[in-house]
Amino acid sequence: MRVGIIGIGAIAQLHIPALLNAEQDIVALCDIKLDRCLKAIEKFELKAKSYEDYKEMIEKENLDVVHVCTPHHLHAEMICSALDHNVNVLCEKPIAINYEQLDMIKASVEKSSAQLGVCQQNRFKASMQYVKELFDGEEITAGSGYLCWQRDKNYYLSEDWRGQKETEGGGVVINQALHTLDMLQWFCGMPKSVIAHTSCDTLKDIINVEETAFAIFNLPNGGRFILNATNSNTFSFPITIMLHSKTKNVVIVDDNIIYNGQFVTRSDGLPLFGKEVWGVGHIILIKEFYGALAEGRKFHLDFEEAQKVVKLLLALYESEGKEITIRG
Ligand SMILES: NC(=O)c1ccc[n+]([C@@H]2O[C@H](COP(=O)([O-])OP(=O)(O)OC[C@H]3O[C@@H](n4cnc5c(N)ncnc54)[C@H](O)[C@@H]3O)[C@@H](O)[C@H]2O)c1
Repeated sequence: MRVGIIGIGAIAQLHIPALLNAEQDIVALCDIKLDRCLKAIEKFELKAKSYEDYKEMIEKENLDVVHVCTPHHLHAEMICSALDHNVNVLCEKPIAINYEQLDMIKASVEKSSAQLGVCQQNRFKASMQYVKELFDGEEITAGSGYLCWQRDKNYYLSEDWRGQKETEGGGVVINQALHTLDMLQWFCGMPKSVIAHTSCDTLKDIINVEETAFAIFNLPNGGRFILNATNSNTFSFPITIMLHSKTKNVVIVDDNIIYNGQFVTRSDGLPLFGKEVWGVGHIILIKEFYGALAEGRKFHLDFEEAQKVVKLLLALYESEGKEITIRG
């Protein structure tokens, strides 16, 4: 398929090899910093055109798919622009940073003949799939997700959109812990409300978003899941997810699972194309997305699925210690 990518920064360095691995034809790259397109064309030996204006790329290139790999606040307008031209979109997380953007995307999804897929890639990992099957048909009544990472001054100063509410939409929750929240929701179901606290403790002079968050999500079955997330450590530990049902206790750390006291490993067995923390989920997700398009199937990590985590984190941000109902 004819593919164009918007935003040739860090994560595009993973989309490109994953697309080549899926034998897709990258025909155009777009970035407001044009040199990033030229460097990527050279690095990956692509026969692709470069654009500074994504609208021009969509209009001129007769694309089948556009990948959106830009800062958070730009996702919604880029998704809508592609869908309005009936071009399929694979967008990086999060699809939106506020409810207005969610509504805008919903309207474009409903009008378009093209599909929207979203990179919430951890759902595709073998360890997560294994645990999802373990709990199939069984109600989870307690969950916990713990992310304890390092994102220091240099990280936030590396790109001007990072650490700013207007462009990133938030801090550790919308960026790093979005995946943990997505997994908790995928396993436990959609909560009805949240009570949360957020703070910025070590980088107050640099960022205007939260570095740390603690959130209690109330499930319709009377159970809860809890998110603990911080970017303030001096080392990034592996994320831990814990789940409990009537008959099962599960702890997940990377590919390793402790299931009722027994140690199980479920590895994806795929080469790592990017940073270790990004994992191999993109490779699987991109193959599945293109498989769905080629066979005319609906890709299941679509707008309906991706909007759930956005609604959870927007309610979390609104909370400031009060119980907030999650929007339907
Ligand atoms: N799924 C994951 O695990 C994962 C991991 C890392 C990043 N991401 C997501 O990928 C996205 C990009 O993150 P990144 O780390 O690559 O950021 P980045 O800053 O490294 O790259 C973003 C690129 O977009 C370009 N850009 C900005 N405005 C543009 C515009 N109007 N038109 C075209 N290009 C424009 C920038 O010049 C930059 O090169 C974010 O949504 C981020 O959350 C996801």
